[in-house]
Amino acid sequence: MRVFRSVKDLGPLEVALKEAMEIKADRYKYQELGKNKTALLIFFNNSLRTRLSTQKAAMNLGMNVIVLDVNQGAWKLETERGVVMDGDKSEHLLEAIPVMASYCDIIGVRSFARFESREDDYQEKILEQFIQYSGKPVFFMESATVHPLQSFADLITIEEYKECKRPKVVLTWAPHPKALPQAVPNSFAEWLNAADVDFVVTHPEGYELDPQFVGDAKVEYDQMKAFEGADFVYAKNWSCPGVTRPEDYGKILSQDMSWTVSERQMAVTNNAHFMHCLPVRRNMIVTDDVIESPRSLVIPEAANREISATVVLKRMLEAL
Ligand code: CP
Repeated sequence: MRVFRSVKDLGPLEVALKEAMEIKADRYKYQELGKNKTALLIFFNNSLRTRLSTQKAAMNLGMNVIVLDVNQGAWKLETERGVVMDGDKSEHLLEAIPVMASYCDIIGVRSFARFESREDDYQEKILEQFIQYSGKPVFFMESATVHPLQSFADLITIEEYKECKRPKVVLTWAPHPKALPQAVPNSFAEWLNAADVDFVVTHPEGYELDPQFVGDAKVEYDQMKAFEGADFVYAKNWSCPGVTRPEDYGKILSQDMSWTVSERQMAVTNNAHFMHCLPVRRNMIVTDDVIESPRSLVIPEAANREISATVVLKRMLEAL
């Protein structure tokens, strides 16, 4: 595997899930695979889970790890070609990428949506440059539009906790004070569409996800109706994807607190498990009672980030 951004990059999902369970049972089984290999993790944005779980995954495989926080200590990077660099940016990504690549074998990059242009974000201008100019395998640690390591961990968690063969999984929008990217819901929709589940998406009008990710998933604008009989509820905020009105891309269209996941909605589910990728704003996205309930999976879900990252790095090491 040379690039990891999509569920399609893993091949058959049931094989990848089986591999994840095998690694979970013995996470150090492949510790010789990464000997004398180096993973470089590049963060243009903050992280707690991705940073720690991916470092741990690389260590599970015997790799060396270098972490670079681009905005803390590195030269400020220009990302656009053709710009006269007479401002505060001292180095261009086109030199920085091959230099960074020369110190490692595999590169992970986190670079969020900038909300300056829907086209730029959805074309993945930063990540595509890493793929094109590094000459190294590149995995997405949350890009402008996708967060595949998270969705893989989410699916591992659903596989572990499901109580019937084909559970009902609901992705629900919830309010947030800031405009957040669509990376997590995009990937969650993409991955759940590939899984053997009854998948429903619910959000206020105007928050329609990009068709390349939401595909043929059921969309239900009535949140209570969507929650009926659910086995898993996955909450997340996202800003306007700009599908129906491109001029609204990245805007907050609603802060309707009736969408906050509480016992009111959970009461109509099939005693659903609650999921969120974290970090989460309590009593905006979800009430204290729901996130603290025994049915909340937010901690096991975060712990499975180590497993999803170990599988992805293992696949990349095997393809070197
Ligand atoms: N869920 C997730 O990616 O968490 P971090 O932003 O802390 O890495």
